[in-house]
Amino acid sequence: MKYFLILLLAVTLSNAKIIQRFVAPTNCSACHQEQVKDWMTSLHAKSHTDKNELYHEAVKIVARDLRQPYENVLVKCGDCHNPRLEVAESELDENYMLAKAFVLETTQSEHIDKALTAKHIQNGISCYVCHNVNSIKEKHNDQDVGFNVLEWIPNDTIVGPFTDPNNRAGFHKSEIRDYFVTGNDLCLACHQGQATENKLSVYDTGKELESTNDTRRCVDCHMGSLKQEIIAPNMKPNLAQKRTIRSHLFAGIRNDSKELKEYVNLGIKVIGSTKANIEIENLATHNLPSGFSGRSVVLNLKFLKGTTELSSNKIGFEKVYRNKIGSRTLSYAADRLVSDSTLKPLEKREISIDIPAGTTSIKADLLYYVLAPEVKGSMQIKNDAFTKPYTMKSMTFNLN
Ligand code: HEC
Ligand code: HEC
Ligand code: HEC
Ligand code: HEC
Ligand code: HEC
Repeated sequence: MKYFLILLLAVTLSNAKIIQRFVAPTNCSACHQEQVKDWMTSLHAKSHTDKNELYHEAVKIVARDLRQPYENVLVKCGDCHNPRLEVAESELDENYMLAKAFVLETTQSEHIDKALTAKHIQNGISCYVCHNVNSIKEKHNDQDVGFNVLEWIPNDTIVGPFTDPNNRAGFHKSEIRDYFVTGNDLCLACHQGQATENKLSVYDTGKELESTNDTRRCVDCHMGSLKQEIIAPNMKPNLAQKRTIRSHLFAGIRNDSKELKEYVNLGIKVIGSTKANIEIENLATHNLPSGFSGRSVVLNLKFLKGTTELSSNKIGFEKVYRNKIGSRTLSYAADRLVSDSTLKPLEKREISIDIPAGTTSIKADLLYYVLAPEVKGSMQIKNDAFTKPYTMKSMTFNLN
Protein backbone atom coordinates (compact mmCIF):
# COMPACT_ATOMS: atom_id res chain seq x y z
CA MET A 1 0.00 0.00 0.00
CA LYS A 2 2.79 2.38 0.97
CA TYR A 3 4.58 1.53 -2.26
CA PHE A 4 1.43 2.29 -4.23
CA LEU A 5 1.07 5.71 -2.58
CA ILE A 6 4.65 6.65 -3.42
CA LEU A 7 4.09 5.64 -7.03
CA LEU A 8 0.87 7.63 -7.23
CA LEU A 9 2.60 10.71 -5.82
CA ALA A 10 5.44 10.33 -8.30
CA VAL A 11 3.01 10.15 -11.19
CA THR A 12 1.03 13.24 -10.16
CA LEU A 13 4.27 15.16 -9.64
CA SER A 14 5.58 14.36 -13.06
CA ASN A 15 2.29 14.91 -14.85
CA ALA A 16 2.39 18.70 -14.58
CA LYS A 17 0.86 19.68 -17.90
CA ILE A 18 3.12 21.15 -20.55
CA ILE A 19 1.48 23.30 -23.24
CA GLN A 20 3.27 22.15 -26.38
CA ARG A 21 3.25 25.50 -28.17
CA PHE A 22 4.99 27.14 -25.17
CA VAL A 23 7.90 24.70 -25.28
CA ALA A 24 10.10 26.06 -28.05
CA PRO A 25 11.40 29.61 -27.45
CA THR A 26 11.30 30.08 -31.23
CA ASN A 27 7.50 30.05 -30.94
CA CYS A 28 7.76 33.27 -28.95
CA SER A 29 10.14 34.96 -31.41
CA ALA A 30 7.49 36.32 -33.75
CA CYS A 31 6.35 38.72 -31.03
CA HIS A 32 9.20 38.70 -28.48
CA GLN A 33 12.31 38.54 -30.64
CA GLU A 34 14.42 40.65 -28.28
CA GLN A 35 13.65 38.55 -25.19
CA VAL A 36 14.46 35.35 -27.07
CA LYS A 37 17.69 36.78 -28.53
CA ASP A 38 18.93 37.99 -25.14
CA TRP A 39 17.93 34.80 -23.32
CA MET A 40 19.90 32.75 -25.89
CA THR A 41 23.12 34.45 -24.68
CA SER A 42 22.48 33.44 -21.07
CA LEU A 43 23.49 30.36 -19.11
CA HIS A 44 19.79 29.66 -18.59
CA ALA A 45 19.75 28.52 -22.23
CA LYS A 46 22.60 26.12 -21.48
CA SER A 47 21.48 24.40 -18.30
CA HIS A 48 21.02 20.99 -19.99
CA THR A 49 23.89 18.48 -20.18
CA ASP A 50 23.85 18.53 -24.02
CA LYS A 51 24.57 22.28 -24.03
CA ASN A 52 26.97 22.51 -21.11
CA GLU A 53 30.05 20.31 -20.99
CA LEU A 54 30.97 21.44 -17.50
CA TYR A 55 27.55 20.51 -16.15
CA HIS A 56 27.68 17.13 -17.88
CA GLU A 57 31.14 16.40 -16.40
CA ALA A 58 30.07 17.58 -12.95
CA VAL A 59 27.08 15.19 -12.94
CA LYS A 60 29.48 12.37 -13.88
CA ILE A 61 31.94 13.23 -11.10
CA VAL A 62 29.18 13.43 -8.51
CA ALA A 63 27.74 10.09 -9.66
CA ARG A 64 31.18 8.51 -9.38
CA ASP A 65 31.96 9.98 -5.95
CA LEU A 66 28.54 9.26 -4.46
CA ARG A 67 28.45 5.82 -6.12
CA GLN A 68 25.05 6.51 -7.66
CA PRO A 69 23.84 5.91 -11.21
CA TYR A 70 24.33 8.91 -13.54
CA GLU A 71 20.58 9.09 -14.19
CA ASN A 72 19.73 9.42 -10.50
CA VAL A 73 22.15 12.31 -10.06
CA LEU A 74 20.87 13.93 -13.26
CA VAL A 75 17.30 13.93 -11.97
CA LYS A 76 18.40 15.39 -8.62
CA CYS A 77 20.40 18.16 -10.29
CA GLY A 78 17.51 18.61 -12.69
CA ASP A 79 15.38 20.04 -9.85
CA CYS A 80 16.93 23.39 -10.81
CA HIS A 81 18.79 22.76 -14.08
CA ASN A 82 15.79 21.14 -15.78
CA PRO A 83 12.78 21.77 -13.55
CA ARG A 84 10.32 20.57 -16.20
CA LEU A 85 11.78 17.09 -16.40
CA GLU A 86 8.77 14.78 -16.48
CA VAL A 87 10.14 12.30 -13.99
CA ALA A 88 10.38 12.40 -10.21
CA GLU A 89 13.31 11.19 -8.14
CA SER A 90 11.19 8.53 -6.44
CA GLU A 91 10.61 6.85 -9.81
CA LEU A 92 14.28 5.98 -10.11
CA ASP A 93 13.90 3.12 -7.66
CA GLU A 94 15.59 -0.27 -7.28
CA ASN A 95 13.59 -1.76 -10.16
CA TYR A 96 14.88 0.93 -12.48
CA MET A 97 18.46 0.46 -11.30
CA LEU A 98 18.16 -3.29 -11.84
CA ALA A 99 16.75 -2.78 -15.33
CA LYS A 100 19.70 -0.47 -16.11
CA ALA A 101 22.27 -2.81 -14.63
CA PHE A 102 21.02 -5.74 -16.74
CA VAL A 103 20.24 -3.60 -19.81
CA LEU A 104 16.57 -4.60 -19.70
CA GLU A 105 13.84 -2.49 -21.23
CA THR A 106 10.85 -2.33 -18.92
CA THR A 107 7.82 -0.02 -19.20
CA GLN A 108 9.29 1.93 -16.30
CA SER A 109 12.81 2.26 -17.73
CA GLU A 110 11.38 3.23 -21.10
CA HIS A 111 9.25 5.98 -19.53
CA ILE A 112 12.18 7.34 -17.51
CA ASP A 113 14.70 7.23 -20.36
CA LYS A 114 12.18 8.98 -22.62
CA ALA A 115 11.69 11.76 -20.06
CA LEU A 116 15.45 12.17 -19.62
CA THR A 117 16.04 12.56 -23.35
CA ALA A 118 12.90 14.60 -24.14
CA LYS A 119 13.63 17.33 -26.64
CA HIS A 120 11.90 20.12 -24.72
CA ILE A 121 14.17 19.89 -21.67
CA GLN A 122 17.19 20.60 -23.86
CA ASN A 123 16.00 24.22 -23.95
CA GLY A 124 17.05 24.44 -20.30
CA ILE A 125 15.58 27.21 -18.19
CA SER A 126 13.55 28.69 -20.99
CA CYS A 127 10.38 30.76 -21.25
CA TYR A 128 8.07 27.90 -20.19
CA VAL A 129 9.91 27.63 -16.88
CA CYS A 130 9.70 31.14 -15.40
CA HIS A 131 6.57 32.27 -17.26
CA ASN A 132 4.58 29.14 -16.37
CA VAL A 133 5.11 29.37 -12.61
CA ASN A 134 1.65 29.64 -11.07
CA SER A 135 2.91 29.99 -7.51
CA ILE A 136 6.05 29.47 -5.48
CA LYS A 137 5.69 27.29 -2.39
CA GLU A 138 7.11 28.41 0.91
CA LYS A 139 10.55 26.92 1.57
CA HIS A 140 10.89 24.96 4.80
CA ASN A 141 14.50 23.94 4.42
CA ASP A 142 17.46 24.27 2.07
CA GLN A 143 16.39 21.20 0.07
CA ASP A 144 13.12 22.82 -1.04
CA VAL A 145 14.43 24.02 -4.38
CA GLY A 146 13.50 24.41 -8.06
CA PHE A 147 11.01 21.78 -9.20
CA ASN A 148 9.97 21.07 -5.57
CA VAL A 149 8.74 24.61 -4.93
CA LEU A 150 7.50 25.64 -8.38
CA GLU A 151 3.84 25.01 -9.15
CA TRP A 152 2.99 25.07 -12.85
CA ILE A 153 0.06 26.83 -14.50
CA PRO A 154 -2.50 24.23 -15.59
CA ASN A 155 -3.68 26.07 -18.74
CA ASP A 156 -2.48 28.31 -21.59
CA THR A 157 -1.82 31.35 -19.44
CA ILE A 158 1.58 33.06 -19.41
CA VAL A 159 2.48 34.96 -16.25
CA GLY A 160 4.62 38.07 -16.00
CA PRO A 161 4.82 41.55 -14.53
CA PHE A 162 1.73 42.97 -16.31
CA THR A 163 -1.98 42.46 -16.87
CA ASP A 164 -3.37 42.20 -20.40
CA PRO A 165 -7.15 42.36 -19.95
CA ASN A 166 -7.76 42.87 -23.69
CA ASN A 167 -5.76 39.75 -24.50
CA ARG A 168 -3.62 41.54 -27.07
CA ALA A 169 -1.39 38.51 -27.21
CA GLY A 170 -3.98 36.03 -28.46
CA PHE A 171 -1.29 33.33 -28.62
CA HIS A 172 -1.50 33.13 -24.85
CA LYS A 173 -3.57 34.58 -22.03
CA SER A 174 -1.61 36.75 -19.58
CA GLU A 175 -1.77 37.18 -15.84
CA ILE A 176 0.30 39.12 -13.37
CA ARG A 177 2.30 37.43 -10.60
CA ASP A 178 3.91 39.56 -7.91
CA TYR A 179 7.27 37.71 -7.97
CA PHE A 180 7.89 39.37 -11.35
CA VAL A 181 7.34 42.78 -9.79
CA THR A 182 8.90 42.68 -6.32
CA GLY A 183 11.35 40.58 -4.31
CA ASN A 184 13.62 37.75 -5.44
CA ASP A 185 11.48 34.66 -4.82
CA LEU A 186 11.52 33.50 -8.45
CA CYS A 187 15.31 33.68 -8.78
CA LEU A 188 15.89 32.24 -5.32
CA ALA A 189 13.74 29.18 -6.02
CA CYS A 190 16.95 27.92 -7.69
CA HIS A 191 19.73 30.31 -6.63
CA GLN A 192 19.30 29.53 -2.92
CA GLY A 193 19.40 25.99 -1.60
CA GLN A 194 21.16 22.66 -1.61
CA ALA A 195 21.93 20.64 -4.72
CA THR A 196 22.07 17.34 -2.83
CA GLU A 197 21.54 16.06 0.73
CA ASN A 198 25.08 17.25 1.45
CA LYS A 199 24.85 20.50 3.45
CA LEU A 200 28.05 21.75 1.79
CA SER A 201 26.36 21.66 -1.63
CA VAL A 202 24.51 24.90 -0.99
CA TYR A 203 24.09 27.74 -3.49
CA ASP A 204 23.89 30.62 -1.03
CA THR A 205 23.38 33.74 -3.15
CA GLY A 206 20.02 34.56 -1.48
CA LYS A 207 21.32 34.42 2.09
CA GLU A 208 24.38 36.44 1.07
CA LEU A 209 22.10 39.13 -0.34
CA GLU A 210 19.86 39.05 2.74
CA SER A 211 22.85 39.72 5.00
CA THR A 212 23.29 43.18 3.45
CA ASN A 213 19.79 44.65 3.96
CA ASP A 214 20.32 46.17 0.49
CA THR A 215 17.03 46.49 -1.39
CA ARG A 216 18.37 46.06 -4.93
CA ARG A 217 16.85 42.99 -6.60
CA CYS A 218 18.65 40.33 -8.66
CA VAL A 219 16.99 41.66 -11.81
CA ASP A 220 18.31 45.19 -11.14
CA CYS A 221 21.87 44.03 -11.82
CA HIS A 222 21.34 40.95 -14.02
CA MET A 223 18.65 42.11 -16.45
CA GLY A 224 20.26 45.39 -17.57
CA SER A 225 18.73 48.81 -17.00
CA LEU A 226 15.09 49.79 -17.29
CA LYS A 227 13.74 50.93 -20.66
CA GLN A 228 10.40 52.03 -22.08
CA GLU A 229 8.99 49.92 -24.87
CA ILE A 230 5.82 48.61 -26.42
CA ILE A 231 5.83 44.83 -26.24
CA ALA A 232 4.92 43.19 -29.57
CA PRO A 233 3.89 46.54 -31.18
CA ASN A 234 2.25 44.90 -34.20
CA MET A 235 -0.41 43.14 -32.16
CA LYS A 236 -3.64 45.21 -31.83
CA PRO A 237 -1.59 48.47 -31.93
CA ASN A 238 -4.56 50.63 -30.87
CA LEU A 239 -4.63 48.86 -27.48
CA ALA A 240 -0.88 48.81 -26.93
CA GLN A 241 0.74 50.68 -24.07
CA LYS A 242 4.34 51.57 -23.29
CA ARG A 243 5.80 49.34 -20.61
CA THR A 244 8.83 49.69 -18.35
CA ILE A 245 10.88 46.58 -19.10
CA ARG A 246 14.31 44.98 -18.69
CA SER A 247 16.51 42.77 -20.90
CA HIS A 248 16.64 38.97 -20.64
CA LEU A 249 20.41 38.88 -20.26
CA PHE A 250 20.85 37.05 -16.94
CA ALA A 251 24.42 38.15 -17.51
CA GLY A 252 27.48 36.82 -15.73
CA ILE A 253 31.18 37.63 -16.18
CA ARG A 254 31.38 35.25 -19.15
CA ASN A 255 29.00 37.41 -21.18
CA ASP A 256 31.64 40.15 -21.10
CA SER A 257 29.11 42.41 -19.43
CA LYS A 258 30.58 45.90 -19.10
CA GLU A 259 27.99 46.73 -16.47
CA LEU A 260 28.99 43.86 -14.18
CA LYS A 261 32.67 44.78 -14.45
CA GLU A 262 31.83 48.10 -12.76
CA TYR A 263 30.96 46.21 -9.58
CA VAL A 264 34.54 45.59 -8.51
CA ASN A 265 37.11 48.22 -7.57
CA LEU A 266 40.84 47.70 -7.44
CA GLY A 267 43.41 50.11 -5.97
CA ILE A 268 46.83 50.24 -4.34
CA LYS A 269 48.21 52.22 -1.42
CA VAL A 270 52.02 52.29 -1.27
CA ILE A 271 53.48 52.32 2.24
CA GLY A 272 57.19 53.14 2.19
CA SER A 273 59.44 51.49 -0.37
CA THR A 274 58.86 47.81 0.41
CA LYS A 275 55.22 47.52 1.37
CA ALA A 276 51.84 48.28 -0.16
CA ASN A 277 48.19 47.58 0.51
CA ILE A 278 46.09 46.18 -2.30
CA GLU A 279 42.53 47.40 -1.96
CA ILE A 280 39.79 45.33 -3.53
CA GLU A 281 36.11 46.14 -3.20
CA ASN A 282 33.12 43.96 -4.11
CA LEU A 283 30.17 46.21 -4.95
CA ALA A 284 27.86 43.28 -5.65
CA THR A 285 25.39 42.40 -2.91
CA HIS A 286 26.51 38.77 -2.83
CA ASN A 287 29.89 37.06 -2.52
CA LEU A 288 32.48 37.34 -5.26
CA PRO A 289 32.41 34.65 -6.50
CA SER A 290 28.96 33.33 -5.49
CA GLY A 291 26.90 30.31 -6.50
CA PHE A 292 28.65 27.32 -8.11
CA SER A 293 31.47 25.96 -5.94
CA GLY A 294 34.03 25.53 -8.73
CA ARG A 295 34.58 29.24 -9.35
CA SER A 296 37.63 31.21 -8.38
CA VAL A 297 38.78 34.79 -8.77
CA VAL A 298 42.54 35.35 -8.86
CA LEU A 299 44.50 38.57 -8.54
CA ASN A 300 47.78 38.24 -10.44
CA LEU A 301 50.43 40.77 -9.46
CA LYS A 302 53.57 41.35 -11.49
CA PHE A 303 56.35 43.52 -10.06
CA LEU A 304 58.20 45.29 -12.84
CA LYS A 305 61.43 47.27 -13.13
CA GLY A 306 60.94 49.03 -16.42
CA THR A 307 59.76 46.16 -18.57
CA THR A 308 61.64 43.45 -16.66
CA GLU A 309 59.58 41.24 -14.37
CA LEU A 310 61.23 41.00 -10.95
CA SER A 311 58.70 38.64 -9.37
CA SER A 312 55.01 37.84 -9.18
CA ASN A 313 52.33 37.08 -6.63
CA LYS A 314 48.92 35.39 -6.76
CA ILE A 315 45.99 36.04 -4.44
CA GLY A 316 42.93 33.82 -4.70
CA PHE A 317 39.32 34.49 -3.75
CA GLU A 318 37.52 31.17 -3.55
CA LYS A 319 36.09 28.39 -1.45
CA VAL A 320 38.25 25.28 -1.16
CA TYR A 321 36.43 21.97 -0.76
CA ARG A 322 38.09 18.59 -0.20
CA ASN A 323 36.74 15.04 -0.37
CA LYS A 324 37.40 12.18 2.05
CA ILE A 325 40.81 11.42 0.54
CA GLY A 326 41.82 15.07 0.66
CA SER A 327 41.56 15.97 -3.04
CA ARG A 328 40.12 19.29 -4.17
CA THR A 329 36.54 18.77 -5.37
CA LEU A 330 33.16 20.39 -6.03
CA SER A 331 30.87 21.03 -3.06
CA TYR A 332 28.41 18.27 -4.04
CA ALA A 333 30.91 15.51 -3.31
CA ALA A 334 32.84 17.32 -0.57
CA ASP A 335 33.60 16.12 2.92
CA ARG A 336 34.66 19.54 4.21
CA LEU A 337 35.11 23.20 3.38
CA VAL A 338 38.71 23.98 4.29
CA SER A 339 38.87 27.69 3.51
CA ASP A 340 36.78 30.59 2.25
CA SER A 341 38.49 33.68 0.91
CA THR A 342 35.57 34.88 -1.26
CA LEU A 343 34.85 38.58 -0.95
CA LYS A 344 31.71 39.09 1.10
CA PRO A 345 28.83 41.29 -0.15
CA LEU A 346 29.94 44.95 -0.37
CA GLU A 347 33.25 44.05 1.34
CA LYS A 348 36.31 46.27 0.91
CA ARG A 349 39.43 44.24 1.72
CA GLU A 350 42.99 45.46 2.20
CA ILE A 351 45.74 42.96 1.55
CA SER A 352 49.29 43.76 2.61
CA ILE A 353 52.00 42.82 0.10
CA ASP A 354 55.77 43.09 -0.06
CA ILE A 355 57.31 44.98 -2.96
CA PRO A 356 60.72 43.79 -4.22
CA ALA A 357 63.47 46.44 -4.17
CA GLY A 358 63.76 48.34 -7.45
CA THR A 359 60.09 47.93 -8.48
CA THR A 360 58.93 50.79 -10.69
CA SER A 361 55.42 49.53 -11.48
CA ILE A 362 52.94 46.82 -10.52
CA LYS A 363 50.70 45.19 -13.10
CA ALA A 364 47.50 43.84 -11.58
CA ASP A 365 45.15 41.48 -13.42
CA LEU A 366 41.95 40.34 -11.78
CA LEU A 367 40.90 37.07 -13.43
CA TYR A 368 37.70 35.07 -13.16
CA TYR A 369 37.74 31.30 -13.57
CA VAL A 370 34.42 29.59 -14.32
CA LEU A 371 36.14 26.42 -13.12
CA ALA A 372 39.30 26.83 -11.04
CA PRO A 373 42.25 24.96 -12.63
CA GLU A 374 42.91 23.21 -9.29
CA VAL A 375 39.35 21.84 -9.26
CA LYS A 376 39.34 20.78 -12.89
CA GLY A 377 41.71 17.93 -12.06
CA SER A 378 40.68 14.90 -14.05
CA MET A 379 37.50 16.41 -15.51
CA GLN A 380 37.46 15.99 -19.28
CA ILE A 381 36.57 19.47 -20.50
CA LYS A 382 37.46 20.39 -24.07
CA ASN A 383 35.59 23.68 -24.52
CA ASP A 384 37.94 26.38 -23.24
CA ALA A 385 35.01 28.70 -22.47
CA PHE A 386 34.90 26.81 -19.15
CA THR A 387 38.61 26.74 -18.41
CA LYS A 388 40.15 29.98 -19.72
CA PRO A 389 40.38 33.00 -17.40
CA TYR A 390 38.13 36.03 -18.03
CA THR A 391 39.63 39.43 -17.26
CA MET A 392 37.57 41.46 -14.79
CA LYS A 393 40.15 44.28 -14.35
CA SER A 394 43.60 44.96 -15.73
CA MET A 395 45.57 47.87 -14.30
CA THR A 396 49.12 49.14 -13.99
CA PHE A 397 50.17 51.14 -10.94
CA ASN A 398 53.29 53.29 -11.37
CA LEU A 399 55.22 53.70 -8.17
CA ASN A 400 57.08 56.90 -8.94
C1 HEC B 1 14.81 33.00 -15.36
C2 HEC B 1 13.45 33.44 -15.54
C3 HEC B 1 13.00 33.91 -16.89
C4 HEC B 1 13.12 33.26 -18.10
C5 HEC B 1 13.80 31.94 -18.38
C6 HEC B 1 12.45 34.07 -19.07
N1 HEC B 1 11.95 35.20 -18.48
FE1 HEC B 1 10.78 36.61 -19.37
N2 HEC B 1 10.77 37.71 -17.62
C7 HEC B 1 11.40 37.33 -16.47
C8 HEC B 1 11.31 38.42 -15.51
C9 HEC B 1 11.88 38.43 -14.12
C10 HEC B 1 10.57 39.46 -16.14
C11 HEC B 1 10.23 40.83 -15.58
C12 HEC B 1 11.33 41.78 -15.94
C13 HEC B 1 11.16 43.16 -15.38
O1 HEC B 1 11.26 43.34 -14.18
O2 HEC B 1 10.93 44.09 -16.17
C14 HEC B 1 10.23 38.96 -17.47
C15 HEC B 1 9.48 39.67 -18.40
C16 HEC B 1 9.13 39.19 -19.66
C17 HEC B 1 8.31 39.89 -20.63
C18 HEC B 1 7.67 41.26 -20.41
C19 HEC B 1 8.50 42.31 -21.08
C20 HEC B 1 9.89 42.40 -20.54
O3 HEC B 1 10.83 42.14 -21.31
O4 HEC B 1 10.05 42.71 -19.34
C21 HEC B 1 8.28 39.14 -21.77
C22 HEC B 1 7.56 39.47 -23.07
C23 HEC B 1 9.06 37.94 -21.53
N3 HEC B 1 9.56 38.02 -20.25
C24 HEC B 1 9.28 36.96 -22.46
C25 HEC B 1 10.15 35.88 -22.27
C26 HEC B 1 10.51 34.93 -23.31
C27 HEC B 1 9.98 34.96 -24.72
C28 HEC B 1 11.37 34.04 -22.73
C29 HEC B 1 12.08 32.88 -23.39
C30 HEC B 1 13.04 33.22 -24.41
C31 HEC B 1 11.55 34.43 -21.33
N4 HEC B 1 10.81 35.56 -21.10
C32 HEC B 1 12.34 33.75 -20.41
C33 HEC B 1 12.01 36.13 -16.21
C34 HEC B 1 12.28 35.15 -17.15
C1 HEC C 1 1.34 36.59 -31.54
C2 HEC C 1 2.22 37.35 -30.73
C3 HEC C 1 2.76 36.70 -29.44
C4 HEC C 1 3.35 35.47 -29.31
C5 HEC C 1 3.62 34.42 -30.37
C6 HEC C 1 3.74 35.38 -27.93
N1 HEC C 1 3.36 36.52 -27.26
FE1 HEC C 1 3.75 36.97 -25.34
N2 HEC C 1 2.74 38.74 -25.51
C7 HEC C 1 2.21 39.23 -26.67
C8 HEC C 1 1.54 40.48 -26.39
C9 HEC C 1 0.84 41.35 -27.40
C10 HEC C 1 1.67 40.71 -25.01
C11 HEC C 1 1.04 41.83 -24.20
C12 HEC C 1 1.99 42.94 -23.96
C13 HEC C 1 1.42 44.04 -23.12
O1 HEC C 1 0.36 43.87 -22.49
O2 HEC C 1 2.04 45.08 -23.10
C14 HEC C 1 2.46 39.60 -24.50
C15 HEC C 1 2.86 39.49 -23.18
C16 HEC C 1 3.75 38.55 -22.73
C17 HEC C 1 4.33 38.52 -21.41
C18 HEC C 1 4.02 39.48 -20.29
C19 HEC C 1 2.79 38.90 -19.63
C20 HEC C 1 2.38 39.55 -18.33
O3 HEC C 1 1.29 39.23 -17.85
O4 HEC C 1 3.14 40.32 -17.79
C21 HEC C 1 5.12 37.42 -21.34
C22 HEC C 1 5.90 36.97 -20.14
C23 HEC C 1 5.06 36.76 -22.62
N3 HEC C 1 4.23 37.47 -23.44
C24 HEC C 1 5.73 35.61 -22.91
C25 HEC C 1 5.56 34.88 -24.08
C26 HEC C 1 6.14 33.59 -24.32
C27 HEC C 1 6.99 32.83 -23.34
C28 HEC C 1 5.78 33.22 -25.59
C29 HEC C 1 6.14 31.92 -26.32
C30 HEC C 1 5.74 30.69 -25.61
C31 HEC C 1 4.96 34.28 -26.13
N4 HEC C 1 4.83 35.26 -25.17
C32 HEC C 1 4.40 34.29 -27.39
C33 HEC C 1 2.29 38.62 -27.91
C34 HEC C 1 2.76 37.35 -28.16
C1 HEC D 1 14.54 27.11 -12.48
C2 HEC D 1 15.73 27.50 -11.76
C3 HEC D 1 16.24 28.91 -11.94
C4 HEC D 1 15.54 30.09 -11.85
C5 HEC D 1 14.06 30.28 -11.55
C6 HEC D 1 16.50 31.15 -12.07
N1 HEC D 1 17.73 30.62 -12.32
FE1 HEC D 1 19.42 31.64 -12.83
N2 HEC D 1 20.41 29.90 -13.16
C7 HEC D 1 19.91 28.65 -12.88
C8 HEC D 1 20.89 27.65 -13.27
C9 HEC D 1 20.72 26.14 -13.11
C10 HEC D 1 21.98 28.35 -13.81
C11 HEC D 1 23.25 27.74 -14.39
C12 HEC D 1 22.94 27.17 -15.74
C13 HEC D 1 24.04 26.29 -16.28
O1 HEC D 1 24.56 25.49 -15.53
O2 HEC D 1 24.34 26.36 -17.47
C14 HEC D 1 21.64 29.77 -13.73
C15 HEC D 1 22.48 30.80 -14.15
C16 HEC D 1 22.23 32.15 -13.90
C17 HEC D 1 23.16 33.22 -14.16
C18 HEC D 1 24.50 33.10 -14.85
C19 HEC D 1 25.64 33.04 -13.90
C20 HEC D 1 26.99 32.98 -14.58
O3 HEC D 1 27.89 32.38 -13.99
O4 HEC D 1 27.16 33.50 -15.68
C21 HEC D 1 22.58 34.38 -13.73
C22 HEC D 1 23.17 35.76 -13.74
C23 HEC D 1 21.27 34.03 -13.22
N3 HEC D 1 21.09 32.67 -13.34
C24 HEC D 1 20.36 34.94 -12.71
C25 HEC D 1 19.02 34.65 -12.44
C26 HEC D 1 18.02 35.63 -12.12
C27 HEC D 1 18.25 37.11 -12.04
C28 HEC D 1 16.84 34.94 -11.93
C29 HEC D 1 15.48 35.50 -11.58
C30 HEC D 1 14.88 36.41 -12.55
C31 HEC D 1 17.11 33.53 -12.14
N4 HEC D 1 18.45 33.39 -12.44
C32 HEC D 1 16.18 32.50 -12.04
C33 HEC D 1 18.68 28.36 -12.34
C34 HEC D 1 17.62 29.26 -12.22
C1 HEC E 1 24.28 45.09 -6.92
C2 HEC E 1 24.31 44.26 -8.11
C3 HEC E 1 23.96 42.80 -7.99
C4 HEC E 1 22.83 42.25 -7.42
C5 HEC E 1 21.68 42.95 -6.69
C6 HEC E 1 22.91 40.83 -7.67
N1 HEC E 1 24.05 40.53 -8.37
FE1 HEC E 1 24.64 38.69 -9.03
N2 HEC E 1 26.38 39.45 -9.74
C7 HEC E 1 26.71 40.79 -9.73
C8 HEC E 1 28.03 40.94 -10.31
C9 HEC E 1 28.79 42.25 -10.45
C10 HEC E 1 28.47 39.65 -10.67
C11 HEC E 1 29.80 39.25 -11.33
C12 HEC E 1 30.91 39.26 -10.36
C13 HEC E 1 30.61 38.46 -9.17
O1 HEC E 1 30.65 37.23 -9.24
O2 HEC E 1 30.31 39.06 -8.11
C14 HEC E 1 27.41 38.74 -10.31
C15 HEC E 1 27.47 37.37 -10.50
C16 HEC E 1 26.41 36.50 -10.26
C17 HEC E 1 26.40 35.09 -10.55
C18 HEC E 1 27.52 34.29 -11.14
C19 HEC E 1 28.32 33.67 -10.08
C20 HEC E 1 29.55 34.41 -9.82
O3 HEC E 1 29.96 34.53 -8.68
O4 HEC E 1 30.17 34.88 -10.76
C21 HEC E 1 25.17 34.61 -10.19
C22 HEC E 1 24.69 33.18 -10.30
C23 HEC E 1 24.42 35.71 -9.67
N3 HEC E 1 25.19 36.86 -9.70
C24 HEC E 1 23.12 35.62 -9.22
C25 HEC E 1 22.45 36.64 -8.53
C26 HEC E 1 21.17 36.47 -7.87
C27 HEC E 1 20.37 35.19 -7.85
C28 HEC E 1 20.86 37.66 -7.29
C29 HEC E 1 19.69 37.98 -6.40
C30 HEC E 1 19.57 37.16 -5.22
C31 HEC E 1 21.93 38.59 -7.62
N4 HEC E 1 22.87 37.93 -8.36
C32 HEC E 1 21.96 39.93 -7.24
C33 HEC E 1 25.94 41.83 -9.27
C34 HEC E 1 24.73 41.71 -8.58
C1 HEC F 1 19.24 24.53 -5.95
C2 HEC F 1 19.18 24.43 -7.39
C3 HEC F 1 20.30 23.65 -8.04
C4 HEC F 1 20.54 22.31 -7.98
C5 HEC F 1 19.69 21.25 -7.29
C6 HEC F 1 21.75 22.08 -8.73
N1 HEC F 1 22.21 23.25 -9.26
FE1 HEC F 1 23.91 23.51 -10.37
N2 HEC F 1 23.50 25.49 -10.53
C7 HEC F 1 22.44 26.14 -9.93
C8 HEC F 1 22.58 27.56 -10.15
C9 HEC F 1 21.62 28.60 -9.64
C10 HEC F 1 23.75 27.75 -10.90
C11 HEC F 1 24.35 29.06 -11.36
C12 HEC F 1 25.24 29.58 -10.26
C13 HEC F 1 26.49 30.23 -10.71
O1 HEC F 1 26.63 30.56 -11.89
O2 HEC F 1 27.37 30.41 -9.86
C14 HEC F 1 24.31 26.42 -11.13
C15 HEC F 1 25.50 26.18 -11.83
C16 HEC F 1 26.08 24.94 -11.96
C17 HEC F 1 27.29 24.68 -12.72
C18 HEC F 1 28.14 25.71 -13.44
C19 HEC F 1 27.78 25.72 -14.90
C20 HEC F 1 28.55 26.75 -15.68
O3 HEC F 1 28.40 26.77 -16.92
O4 HEC F 1 29.30 27.54 -15.11
C21 HEC F 1 27.52 23.34 -12.64
C22 HEC F 1 28.68 22.58 -13.26
C23 HEC F 1 26.47 22.76 -11.84
N3 HEC F 1 25.60 23.76 -11.45
C24 HEC F 1 26.38 21.43 -11.51
C25 HEC F 1 25.36 20.88 -10.75
C26 HEC F 1 25.30 19.48 -10.38
C27 HEC F 1 26.30 18.42 -10.79
C28 HEC F 1 24.18 19.32 -9.62
C29 HEC F 1 23.67 18.07 -8.96
C30 HEC F 1 24.62 17.37 -8.11
C31 HEC F 1 23.54 20.63 -9.53
N4 HEC F 1 24.29 21.53 -10.22
C32 HEC F 1 22.36 20.85 -8.86
C33 HEC F 1 21.42 25.57 -9.21
C34 HEC F 1 21.34 24.24 -8.87
